Amino acid sequence: MKNGSQVIVRPARNLRGSVSLPGDKSISHRYAMLAGIAAGPSRIENYSTGADCASTLGCMRALGVSWEKKENGVIEVQGSGLSLAAPTAALDCGNSGSTIRMLSGIVAGQKFGNNQKFVEMVGDESLSRRPMARVITPLTAMGAQIASHEGRPPLRITGAALKAIDYVMPVASAQVKSCLLFAGLFAEGETRIEEPLRTRDHGEVALRAFGAKLDRRSIGAGNEIRIRGGQRLRGIDARIPGDLSSAAFFLCAAALFPGSQLTVPGLLMNPTRARLLDVLMQIGLHISVTQLDEVHGELVGSLQVEGAALKGASISGADSAALIDEIPVLAAIAPYTEQGIEVRDAKELRVKESDRIAAVATNLRLMGAQVDELEDGLKIPGGQNLHGAELDSFGDHRIAMAFAVAALRASGETLIRGAESAAISYPAFFQTLEDLTER
Ligand code: S3P
Repeated sequence: MKNGSQVIVRPARNLRGSVSLPGDKSISHRYAMLAGIAAGPSRIENYSTGADCASTLGCMRALGVSWEKKENGVIEVQGSGLSLAAPTAALDCGNSGSTIRMLSGIVAGQKFGNNQKFVEMVGDESLSRRPMARVITPLTAMGAQIASHEGRPPLRITGAALKAIDYVMPVASAQVKSCLLFAGLFAEGETRIEEPLRTRDHGEVALRAFGAKLDRRSIGAGNEIRIRGGQRLRGIDARIPGDLSSAAFFLCAAALFPGSQLTVPGLLMNPTRARLLDVLMQIGLHISVTQLDEVHGELVGSLQVEGAALKGASISGADSAALIDEIPVLAAIAPYTEQGIEVRDAKELRVKESDRIAAVATNLRLMGAQVDELEDGLKIPGGQNLHGAELDSFGDHRIAMAFAVAALRASGETLIRGAESAAISYPAFFQTLEDLTER
Protein backbone atom coordinates (compact mmCIF):
# COMPACT_ATOMS: atom_id res chain seq x y z
CA MET A 1 0.00 0.00 0.00
CA LYS A 2 1.21 3.52 -0.81
CA ASN A 3 1.41 6.39 1.64
CA GLY A 4 -2.00 7.97 2.11
CA SER A 5 -3.82 4.70 1.38
CA GLN A 6 -7.26 4.17 2.77
CA VAL A 7 -9.26 1.03 3.31
CA ILE A 8 -12.96 0.50 3.76
CA VAL A 9 -14.08 -2.08 6.30
CA ARG A 10 -17.65 -3.41 6.15
CA PRO A 11 -19.58 -5.07 8.99
CA ALA A 12 -19.02 -8.81 9.43
CA ARG A 13 -21.09 -11.82 10.60
CA ASN A 14 -18.14 -13.66 12.14
CA LEU A 15 -14.54 -14.79 11.69
CA ARG A 16 -13.68 -18.30 10.53
CA GLY A 17 -10.58 -20.10 9.41
CA SER A 18 -6.95 -20.64 10.21
CA VAL A 19 -4.25 -18.00 10.33
CA SER A 20 -0.47 -18.42 10.65
CA LEU A 21 1.28 -15.28 11.75
CA PRO A 22 4.62 -13.96 10.49
CA GLY A 23 7.37 -14.18 13.10
CA ASP A 24 7.12 -12.17 16.28
CA LYS A 25 8.42 -8.61 15.89
CA SER A 26 10.15 -8.41 19.27
CA ILE A 27 12.02 -11.68 18.70
CA SER A 28 12.87 -10.84 15.07
CA HIS A 29 14.63 -7.58 16.07
CA ARG A 30 16.65 -9.33 18.78
CA TYR A 31 17.61 -12.31 16.62
CA ALA A 32 18.76 -10.00 13.79
CA MET A 33 20.91 -7.96 16.18
CA LEU A 34 22.40 -10.93 18.03
CA ALA A 35 22.96 -12.93 14.82
CA GLY A 36 24.86 -9.88 13.54
CA ILE A 37 27.26 -9.86 16.50
CA ALA A 38 27.56 -13.65 16.79
CA ALA A 39 30.65 -15.47 15.58
CA GLY A 40 29.44 -17.57 12.63
CA PRO A 41 26.29 -17.96 10.58
CA SER A 42 22.64 -17.98 11.68
CA ARG A 43 19.56 -19.13 9.82
CA ILE A 44 16.31 -17.51 10.90
CA GLU A 45 12.96 -18.81 9.62
CA ASN A 46 9.68 -16.89 9.69
CA TYR A 47 11.38 -13.53 10.23
CA SER A 48 8.84 -10.74 10.73
CA THR A 49 7.54 -9.27 7.47
CA GLY A 50 7.04 -5.85 9.11
CA ALA A 51 8.89 -2.72 7.99
CA ASP A 52 10.27 -2.23 11.52
CA CYS A 53 12.21 -5.49 11.41
CA ALA A 54 13.44 -4.60 7.91
CA SER A 55 14.80 -1.37 9.47
CA THR A 56 16.83 -3.44 11.93
CA LEU A 57 18.24 -5.61 9.13
CA GLY A 58 19.07 -2.46 7.14
CA CYS A 59 20.98 -1.01 10.09
CA MET A 60 22.88 -4.28 10.61
CA ARG A 61 23.92 -4.25 6.95
CA ALA A 62 25.09 -0.64 7.33
CA LEU A 63 27.21 -1.88 10.26
CA GLY A 64 28.91 -4.38 7.97
CA VAL A 65 26.85 -7.50 8.71
CA SER A 66 26.05 -9.50 5.60
CA TRP A 67 22.71 -11.24 5.36
CA GLU A 68 20.51 -12.61 2.65
CA LYS A 69 16.79 -13.09 2.37
CA LYS A 70 15.87 -16.56 1.08
CA GLU A 71 12.44 -17.97 0.23
CA ASN A 72 9.65 -18.35 2.82
CA GLY A 73 10.81 -15.62 5.16
CA VAL A 74 14.21 -17.23 5.81
CA ILE A 75 17.06 -14.85 6.59
CA GLU A 76 20.66 -16.08 6.56
CA VAL A 77 23.00 -13.90 8.55
CA GLN A 78 26.80 -14.04 8.56
CA GLY A 79 27.75 -12.80 12.02
CA SER A 80 30.57 -10.25 12.31
CA GLY A 81 31.44 -11.03 15.92
CA LEU A 82 31.36 -8.27 18.51
CA SER A 83 33.25 -5.75 16.32
CA LEU A 84 31.11 -4.16 13.65
CA ALA A 85 32.14 -1.93 10.74
CA ALA A 86 31.83 1.86 10.81
CA PRO A 87 28.73 2.88 8.85
CA THR A 88 29.20 5.38 6.03
CA ALA A 89 25.86 7.11 6.60
CA ALA A 90 23.28 7.58 9.36
CA LEU A 91 21.53 4.40 10.51
CA ASP A 92 17.90 4.70 9.43
CA CYS A 93 15.64 3.25 12.12
CA GLY A 94 12.45 4.30 10.28
CA ASN A 95 9.45 4.09 12.61
CA SER A 96 11.07 1.57 14.92
CA GLY A 97 11.60 2.39 18.59
CA SER A 98 12.91 -1.15 19.12
CA THR A 99 15.63 -0.64 16.51
CA ILE A 100 16.93 2.66 17.81
CA ARG A 101 16.72 1.75 21.50
CA MET A 102 18.10 -1.78 21.41
CA LEU A 103 20.72 -1.23 18.71
CA SER A 104 22.05 1.84 20.54
CA GLY A 105 23.31 -0.62 23.19
CA ILE A 106 25.41 -2.41 20.56
CA VAL A 107 26.57 0.77 18.83
CA ALA A 108 27.65 2.22 22.20
CA GLY A 109 30.11 -0.65 22.56
CA GLN A 110 31.83 -0.08 19.18
CA LYS A 111 35.18 1.71 18.86
CA PHE A 112 35.71 2.55 15.22
CA GLY A 113 39.00 4.45 15.35
CA ASN A 114 39.90 8.08 14.83
CA ASN A 115 38.22 8.97 11.59
CA GLN A 116 34.74 7.86 12.77
CA LYS A 117 33.66 10.23 15.52
CA PHE A 118 30.11 9.03 16.05
CA VAL A 119 27.32 6.91 14.61
CA GLU A 120 24.13 8.76 13.87
CA MET A 121 20.79 6.99 14.37
CA VAL A 122 17.78 8.65 12.78
CA GLY A 123 14.09 7.90 12.48
CA ASP A 124 10.90 9.11 10.82
CA GLU A 125 8.76 11.94 12.15
CA SER A 126 7.01 9.76 14.75
CA LEU A 127 10.24 8.17 16.03
CA SER A 128 11.87 11.62 16.18
CA ARG A 129 9.28 12.62 18.79
CA ARG A 130 9.85 9.64 21.08
CA PRO A 131 11.80 9.73 24.37
CA MET A 132 15.34 8.32 24.31
CA ALA A 133 16.63 9.57 27.68
CA ARG A 134 15.75 6.12 29.01
CA VAL A 135 18.66 4.66 27.00
CA ILE A 136 20.89 7.76 26.87
CA THR A 137 21.20 8.03 30.67
CA PRO A 138 22.38 4.47 31.42
CA LEU A 139 24.54 4.14 28.27
CA THR A 140 26.25 7.40 29.22
CA ALA A 141 26.85 6.00 32.69
CA MET A 142 28.55 3.03 30.99
CA GLY A 143 30.92 5.40 29.19
CA ALA A 144 29.33 6.15 25.80
CA GLN A 145 28.84 9.73 24.67
CA ILE A 146 25.42 10.42 23.21
CA ALA A 147 24.16 13.68 21.75
CA SER A 148 20.45 13.99 21.01
CA HIS A 149 17.82 16.54 20.15
CA GLU A 150 16.55 17.26 23.68
CA GLY A 151 16.42 13.56 24.53
CA ARG A 152 14.89 12.62 21.18
CA PRO A 153 16.37 11.28 17.92
CA PRO A 154 18.57 11.79 16.03
CA LEU A 155 21.11 10.20 18.36
CA ARG A 156 24.84 10.68 17.79
CA ILE A 157 26.60 7.89 19.62
CA THR A 158 30.33 7.86 20.27
CA GLY A 159 31.14 4.34 21.37
CA ALA A 160 33.69 3.52 24.03
CA ALA A 161 35.25 0.77 26.09
CA LEU A 162 32.15 0.42 28.24
CA LYS A 163 32.16 -0.31 31.94
CA ALA A 164 29.53 -2.37 33.67
CA ILE A 165 26.82 -0.59 35.67
CA ASP A 166 24.35 -1.39 38.36
CA TYR A 167 21.14 0.19 37.14
CA VAL A 168 17.59 0.35 38.45
CA MET A 169 15.37 1.18 35.49
CA PRO A 170 12.89 3.96 36.27
CA VAL A 171 10.54 2.91 33.44
CA ALA A 172 9.37 -0.67 32.87
CA SER A 173 10.65 -1.15 29.32
CA ALA A 174 11.82 -4.33 27.62
CA GLN A 175 13.52 -2.26 24.93
CA VAL A 176 15.66 -0.50 27.52
CA LYS A 177 16.36 -3.78 29.33
CA SER A 178 17.56 -5.42 26.09
CA CYS A 179 19.60 -2.33 25.15
CA LEU A 180 21.47 -2.53 28.46
CA LEU A 181 21.94 -6.30 28.34
CA PHE A 182 23.39 -5.96 24.83
CA ALA A 183 25.65 -3.11 26.00
CA GLY A 184 26.60 -5.31 28.95
CA LEU A 185 28.12 -7.82 26.50
CA PHE A 186 30.68 -5.15 25.53
CA ALA A 187 31.34 -3.87 29.05
CA GLU A 188 34.13 -4.70 31.40
CA GLY A 189 32.72 -6.44 34.46
CA GLU A 190 29.20 -7.55 35.37
CA THR A 191 26.23 -5.37 34.50
CA ARG A 192 23.25 -5.58 36.86
CA ILE A 193 19.85 -4.33 35.75
CA GLU A 194 16.74 -4.15 37.85
CA GLU A 195 13.33 -3.72 36.22
CA PRO A 196 10.49 -2.39 38.40
CA LEU A 197 7.88 -4.62 36.73
CA ARG A 198 8.34 -7.83 34.78
CA THR A 199 8.48 -7.00 31.06
CA ARG A 200 8.81 -9.28 28.03
CA ASP A 201 11.96 -11.36 28.40
CA HIS A 202 12.88 -12.04 24.76
CA GLY A 203 16.23 -10.28 25.26
CA GLU A 204 17.23 -12.67 28.03
CA VAL A 205 15.85 -15.72 26.20
CA ALA A 206 17.57 -14.74 22.93
CA LEU A 207 20.91 -14.04 24.60
CA ARG A 208 20.82 -17.52 26.10
CA ALA A 209 19.84 -19.03 22.72
CA PHE A 210 22.92 -17.39 21.18
CA GLY A 211 25.08 -18.91 23.91
CA ALA A 212 25.44 -16.08 26.43
CA LYS A 213 25.17 -16.72 30.15
CA LEU A 214 23.09 -14.47 32.36
CA ASP A 215 21.46 -14.72 35.76
CA ARG A 216 17.94 -13.62 36.52
CA ARG A 217 15.98 -13.64 39.73
CA SER A 218 12.69 -12.01 40.64
CA ILE A 219 12.61 -9.08 43.03
CA GLY A 220 9.12 -8.02 44.10
CA ALA A 221 7.06 -7.38 40.96
CA GLY A 222 10.19 -7.14 38.82
CA ASN A 223 13.50 -8.84 38.05
CA GLU A 224 17.20 -8.47 38.56
CA ILE A 225 19.36 -9.55 35.63
CA ARG A 226 23.17 -9.86 35.60
CA ILE A 227 25.35 -10.29 32.54
CA ARG A 228 29.17 -10.47 32.22
CA GLY A 229 30.95 -8.59 29.48
CA GLY A 230 33.21 -10.14 26.85
CA GLN A 231 31.05 -13.20 26.12
CA ARG A 232 31.16 -14.47 22.57
CA LEU A 233 27.90 -15.42 20.89
CA ARG A 234 27.36 -18.35 18.53
CA GLY A 235 24.95 -18.38 15.60
CA ILE A 236 21.63 -20.25 15.72
CA ASP A 237 19.23 -22.02 13.40
CA ALA A 238 15.77 -20.99 14.54
CA ARG A 239 12.15 -20.56 13.55
CA ILE A 240 10.49 -17.49 15.04
CA PRO A 241 7.03 -18.20 16.51
CA GLY A 242 4.00 -16.30 15.16
CA ASP A 243 3.55 -12.77 16.48
CA LEU A 244 1.09 -12.76 19.39
CA SER A 245 0.56 -8.99 19.22
CA SER A 246 -0.47 -9.31 15.55
CA ALA A 247 -2.68 -12.31 16.38
CA ALA A 248 -4.37 -10.06 18.97
CA PHE A 249 -6.27 -8.28 16.18
CA PHE A 250 -7.79 -11.52 14.90
CA LEU A 251 -8.48 -12.83 18.39
CA CYS A 252 -10.31 -9.63 19.30
CA ALA A 253 -12.15 -9.66 15.97
CA ALA A 254 -13.23 -13.27 16.62
CA ALA A 255 -14.33 -12.26 20.12
CA LEU A 256 -16.86 -9.85 18.63
CA PHE A 257 -19.03 -12.65 17.23
CA PRO A 258 -20.36 -15.71 19.11
CA GLY A 259 -20.21 -17.70 15.84
CA SER A 260 -16.48 -17.17 15.28
CA GLN A 261 -14.10 -20.13 15.02
CA LEU A 262 -10.42 -19.51 14.53
CA THR A 263 -7.31 -21.70 14.54
CA VAL A 264 -3.90 -20.11 15.06
CA PRO A 265 -0.98 -22.56 14.70
CA GLY A 266 2.62 -21.88 15.71
CA LEU A 267 1.88 -18.89 17.90
CA LEU A 268 4.25 -17.37 20.46
CA MET A 269 3.09 -18.30 23.98
CA ASN A 270 5.87 -16.71 26.05
CA PRO A 271 4.26 -16.12 29.47
CA THR A 272 5.52 -12.50 29.54
CA ARG A 273 3.41 -11.86 26.42
CA ALA A 274 0.42 -14.16 26.88
CA ARG A 275 -1.52 -12.03 29.39
CA LEU A 276 -3.80 -11.14 26.46
CA LEU A 277 -5.08 -14.70 26.35
CA ASP A 278 -6.00 -14.60 30.06
CA VAL A 279 -7.85 -11.31 29.59
CA LEU A 280 -9.72 -12.56 26.52
CA MET A 281 -10.73 -15.75 28.37
CA GLN A 282 -11.81 -13.68 31.36
CA ILE A 283 -13.88 -11.50 29.01
CA GLY A 284 -15.55 -14.62 27.62
CA LEU A 285 -13.66 -15.89 24.55
CA HIS A 286 -13.19 -19.67 24.53
CA ILE A 287 -9.51 -20.44 23.93
CA SER A 288 -7.80 -23.81 24.03
CA VAL A 289 -4.09 -24.31 23.54
CA THR A 290 -2.68 -27.45 21.93
CA GLN A 291 0.78 -28.66 20.90
CA LEU A 292 2.82 -26.62 23.33
CA ASP A 293 6.55 -26.72 22.43
CA GLU A 294 9.66 -24.87 23.41
CA VAL A 295 11.96 -23.55 20.69
CA HIS A 296 15.22 -21.84 21.71
CA GLY A 297 13.62 -21.02 25.06
CA GLU A 298 10.42 -19.54 23.59
CA LEU A 299 7.07 -21.29 24.09
CA VAL A 300 5.03 -21.96 20.96
CA GLY A 301 1.51 -23.36 20.77
CA SER A 302 -1.57 -23.67 18.60
CA LEU A 303 -4.82 -21.94 19.54
CA GLN A 304 -8.42 -22.93 18.94
CA VAL A 305 -10.73 -19.99 19.53
CA GLU A 306 -14.53 -19.72 19.71
CA GLY A 307 -16.52 -16.54 20.13
CA ALA A 308 -19.02 -16.06 22.98
CA ALA A 309 -20.80 -13.22 24.78
CA LEU A 310 -18.27 -10.68 26.05
CA LYS A 311 -18.15 -9.47 29.65
CA GLY A 312 -15.90 -6.60 30.73
CA ALA A 313 -12.39 -6.15 32.13
CA SER A 314 -10.30 -3.86 34.22
CA ILE A 315 -6.61 -3.55 33.31
CA SER A 316 -4.12 -1.81 35.60
CA GLY A 317 -0.72 -2.08 37.31
CA ALA A 318 1.57 -4.83 36.04
CA ASP A 319 -1.14 -5.96 33.58
CA SER A 320 -0.95 -2.64 31.74
CA ALA A 321 2.78 -3.10 31.18
CA ALA A 322 2.25 -6.71 30.10
CA LEU A 323 -0.52 -5.77 27.66
CA ILE A 324 0.90 -2.49 26.42
CA ASP A 325 0.76 -3.34 22.69
CA GLU A 326 -2.66 -5.02 22.93
CA ILE A 327 -4.49 -2.26 24.80
CA PRO A 328 -5.45 -0.33 21.62
CA VAL A 329 -7.36 -3.29 20.18
CA LEU A 330 -8.86 -4.29 23.55
CA ALA A 331 -10.07 -0.70 23.91
CA ALA A 332 -11.44 -0.75 20.37
CA ILE A 333 -13.71 -3.72 21.18
CA ALA A 334 -14.61 -2.42 24.65
CA PRO A 335 -17.89 -0.71 23.67
CA TYR A 336 -19.21 -4.06 22.43
CA THR A 337 -18.56 -5.84 25.74
CA GLU A 338 -21.30 -6.04 28.38
CA GLN A 339 -19.57 -4.15 31.19
CA GLY A 340 -16.95 -2.17 29.30
CA ILE A 341 -13.20 -1.98 29.78
CA GLU A 342 -11.21 0.32 32.03
CA VAL A 343 -7.46 0.80 31.50
CA ARG A 344 -5.23 2.55 34.08
CA ASP A 345 -1.45 2.86 34.67
CA ALA A 346 -0.84 2.92 30.93
CA LYS A 347 0.71 6.38 30.50
CA GLU A 348 3.42 4.83 28.29
CA LEU A 349 0.74 4.58 25.58
CA ARG A 350 1.07 8.34 25.14
CA VAL A 351 4.67 8.00 23.87
CA LYS A 352 4.24 5.10 21.45
CA GLU A 353 4.15 5.47 17.64
CA SER A 354 1.24 7.87 18.32
CA ASP A 355 -0.44 9.05 21.52
CA ARG A 356 -2.49 5.86 21.60
CA ILE A 357 -4.81 6.99 24.40
CA ALA A 358 -5.84 10.09 22.44
CA ALA A 359 -5.99 8.19 19.13
CA VAL A 360 -8.29 5.48 20.54
CA ALA A 361 -10.56 8.05 22.22
CA THR A 362 -10.81 10.16 19.06
CA ASN A 363 -11.66 7.24 16.79
CA LEU A 364 -14.13 5.62 19.18
CA ARG A 365 -15.96 8.95 19.56
CA LEU A 366 -16.12 9.34 15.77
CA MET A 367 -17.86 5.95 15.73
CA GLY A 368 -20.41 7.29 18.22
CA ALA A 369 -19.00 5.76 21.42
CA GLN A 370 -18.90 7.34 24.83
CA VAL A 371 -15.31 7.29 26.17
CA ASP A 372 -13.56 8.86 29.16
CA GLU A 373 -9.98 9.76 28.30
CA LEU A 374 -7.76 9.64 31.41
CA GLU A 375 -4.18 10.82 31.74
CA ASP A 376 -3.02 7.19 32.16
CA GLY A 377 -5.74 5.24 30.39
CA LEU A 378 -9.32 5.02 29.20
CA LYS A 379 -12.71 4.20 30.63
CA ILE A 380 -15.04 2.78 28.00
CA PRO A 381 -18.55 1.73 29.01
CA GLY A 382 -19.98 -1.46 27.52
CA GLY A 383 -23.29 -2.13 25.79
CA GLN A 384 -22.76 0.53 23.11
CA ASN A 385 -23.70 0.40 19.44
CA LEU A 386 -21.18 1.99 17.09
CA HIS A 387 -21.60 3.28 13.57
CA GLY A 388 -19.11 3.38 10.70
CA ALA A 389 -17.07 6.57 10.36
CA GLU A 390 -14.09 8.17 8.65
CA LEU A 391 -11.08 7.49 10.84
CA ASP A 392 -7.36 8.14 10.83
CA SER A 393 -4.54 5.75 11.73
CA PHE A 394 -2.49 8.64 13.14
CA GLY A 395 0.37 6.99 11.24
CA ASP A 396 0.29 4.17 13.80
CA HIS A 397 0.07 0.52 12.72
CA ARG A 398 -1.74 -0.66 15.84
CA ILE A 399 -4.36 2.09 15.58
CA ALA A 400 -5.05 1.24 11.90
CA MET A 401 -5.51 -2.45 12.75
CA ALA A 402 -7.46 -1.90 16.00
CA PHE A 403 -10.09 0.15 14.18
CA ALA A 404 -10.40 -2.29 11.32
CA VAL A 405 -11.48 -4.70 14.08
CA ALA A 406 -13.90 -2.24 15.74
CA ALA A 407 -15.43 -1.56 12.31
CA LEU A 408 -16.47 -5.21 11.88
CA ARG A 409 -19.30 -4.83 14.39
CA ALA A 410 -20.31 -1.24 13.62
CA SER A 411 -23.31 -0.42 11.47
CA GLY A 412 -22.31 0.78 8.00
CA GLU A 413 -18.88 1.18 6.46
CA THR A 414 -15.75 2.54 8.09
CA LEU A 415 -13.01 4.27 6.16
CA ILE A 416 -9.49 4.17 7.63
CA ARG A 417 -7.01 6.72 6.32
CA GLY A 418 -3.29 6.04 6.54
CA ALA A 419 -4.02 2.31 6.45
CA GLU A 420 -0.56 1.64 4.96
CA SER A 421 0.92 2.06 8.45
CA ALA A 422 -0.22 -1.52 9.22
CA ALA A 423 2.86 -2.58 7.22
CA ILE A 424 5.10 -1.44 10.08
CA SER A 425 4.34 -4.72 11.81
CA TYR A 426 2.04 -6.71 9.49
CA PRO A 427 1.86 -5.88 5.75
CA ALA A 428 -0.69 -8.64 4.96
CA PHE A 429 -3.08 -7.62 7.75
CA PHE A 430 -6.04 -6.21 5.76
CA GLN A 431 -6.00 -9.02 3.20
CA THR A 432 -5.80 -11.67 5.93
CA LEU A 433 -8.64 -10.05 7.88
CA GLU A 434 -10.74 -10.00 4.73
CA ASP A 435 -9.97 -13.69 4.05
CA LEU A 436 -11.10 -14.67 7.57
CA THR A 437 -14.26 -12.57 7.60
CA GLU A 438 -17.71 -14.00 6.81
CA ARG A 439 -20.44 -11.58 5.87
C1 S3P B 1 8.98 -4.00 22.84
C2 S3P B 1 8.70 -3.45 24.05
C3 S3P B 1 7.60 -2.52 24.26
C4 S3P B 1 6.58 -2.62 23.14
C5 S3P B 1 7.20 -2.59 21.78
C6 S3P B 1 8.18 -3.75 21.63
C7 S3P B 1 10.13 -4.92 22.72
O1 S3P B 1 8.10 -1.21 24.31
O2 S3P B 1 5.64 -1.58 23.26
O3 S3P B 1 6.23 -2.68 20.77
O4 S3P B 1 10.26 -5.63 21.73
O5 S3P B 1 10.94 -4.92 23.66
P1 S3P B 1 8.76 -0.59 25.65
O6 S3P B 1 10.01 -1.31 25.91
O7 S3P B 1 8.98 0.85 25.32
O8 S3P B 1 7.73 -0.78 26.71
